[in-house]
Amino acid sequence: MIIILNFGSQFAHLIARRVRDLGVKAEILLFDTPASEIQKLNPAGIILSGGPASVLKKGSPRPDKVIFKLGIPVLGICYGHQVIAQMLGGKVVKGTHREFGKEILSIQDRKDIFQGLTAKEAVWFSHGDQVSILPKGFKKTASTTGCKYAALADPKNNFYGIQFHPEVTHTQHGEKLLKNFLFFICNAKKNWKISTVTENIIAKVTSEVGSKHVVVGISGGVDSLVAATLIYRAVGNRLHAVFVDTGLLRKGEVEQVASYLRKNGFKQLHVIDASKLFLKRLKGITDPEQKRKIIGHSFIEVFEKAIKNELKKHPIVYLAQGTIYPDRIESASTSKMAAKIKSHHNLALPQKMGFKILEPLKDLYKDEVRGVGLTLGLPRELLWRHPFPGPGLAVRIVGEITEEQLQILSEADAVFIEELRKAGEYEKIWQAFAALLPVKVVGVMGDIRTYEYVIALRAVDSVDGMSADWHKIPNELLEKISSAIIGKVRGVNRVLYDITQKPPATIEYE
Ligand code: XMP
Repeated sequence: MIIILNFGSQFAHLIARRVRDLGVKAEILLFDTPASEIQKLNPAGIILSGGPASVLKKGSPRPDKVIFKLGIPVLGICYGHQVIAQMLGGKVVKGTHREFGKEILSIQDRKDIFQGLTAKEAVWFSHGDQVSILPKGFKKTASTTGCKYAALADPKNNFYGIQFHPEVTHTQHGEKLLKNFLFFICNAKKNWKISTVTENIIAKVTSEVGSKHVVVGISGGVDSLVAATLIYRAVGNRLHAVFVDTGLLRKGEVEQVASYLRKNGFKQLHVIDASKLFLKRLKGITDPEQKRKIIGHSFIEVFEKAIKNELKKHPIVYLAQGTIYPDRIESASTSKMAAKIKSHHNLALPQKMGFKILEPLKDLYKDEVRGVGLTLGLPRELLWRHPFPGPGLAVRIVGEITEEQLQILSEADAVFIEELRKAGEYEKIWQAFAALLPVKVVGVMGDIRTYEYVIALRAVDSVDGMSADWHKIPNELLEKISSAIIGKVRGVNRVLYDITQKPPATIEYE
């Protein structure tokens, strides 16, 4: 595997993704992870990420200096490049010319990490500091007009530093460079393949769980579905799945997911219809945070009760969760929020109930989870669904929630999604949904004056939900969607398309 030491770069996950896409396992660790711990993992190479700090600042992050004594190849990127130069005896200064964006790199030494690249390459820079004196044993391998030591190398020890970012797509041959580092310098093995990963997870769960029983909560979303399917392969009917129907999920989702699981052999699936309870507790509640709290508490209460019922019948030891890699690994760019969001429903439970935790997806990125799902034979339609918030449709009905409004919203949302799928637009969008605005407006249908609700459509492009741009749905499709919603959904006479970015708006309405 390759270890990435994260100095707070917004690109650390991107580096890991690129390495994995090239077929090698990558793990992100904190920048100051002790060398002894790194050595235990026996990595083929170490990558020092970029970061927002300056090596010139006192107290700025440094790795354990022993990592340079392990005999393991090291590639420093941007801040990591400066760390190598400074820690090994060179000098870093504040650049006179701050380079941000695209630059032309002149490669003087087209060997090692630069083999197969041309003498001039377009690369992506984003840092102010520069190496001014090379450390002993290093040579300059590339430069730009404003940066003399844009790349340096000590091939004897396999230490490489590059001032630019090979992991971003703006660096034209960044992938080739990473490939060179992985396979020529580190001699890494190409064994990170989704089918192998899937088999390994099943084997691991099988040996960890032994003959014990496991309980898993099905949320209706992709991660818990894949996690449950994996565990089912490992332990069969010793897996007990609890699916709380809050009445706040997308139209048809409970039936679709439950019938898929049943068809695939799940005998111990308990769908708990708690929709009446949720609706009752949400009656008269208009404050978004209060709605979230009520839903969170009610969910845990219903889930806990269902588990206690199961515990009477089976000696359950493990609680499985669909936690994925970005939920666990904190960096500037990954969704700390996502971790918090999941914790809200899940994490409070095991502590209270004393279960051991099973997280079969904890090392995987979202698209790898989908890949595992495909390997397991799960349908694409279920795997490529958009993210969906825990409180569900409740945060898409502004203000108080009534049964009538829930009905209208879930219908309108289903029509919207169906039209996006039919037009081949659904998978181009990160998240799309309908929201119901609690105002009635005037319209006319035939000769009759109507007085009905307004539906707002939201479709956004995003990477992690932290920021988002509105998706440019073609006008003709928007028109088709609007007509379809008005035509098929009783109680709506106007459809709006939301063209606000996040920030300043959030993705959800509450
Ligand atoms: P916002 O509305 O904050 O949403 O821009 C960003 C992403 O997070 C999801 N989201 C939630 N997910 N529980 C969840 O599980 C929540 O309370 C929650 N609020 C927002 C939202 O769907 C979007 O993908």
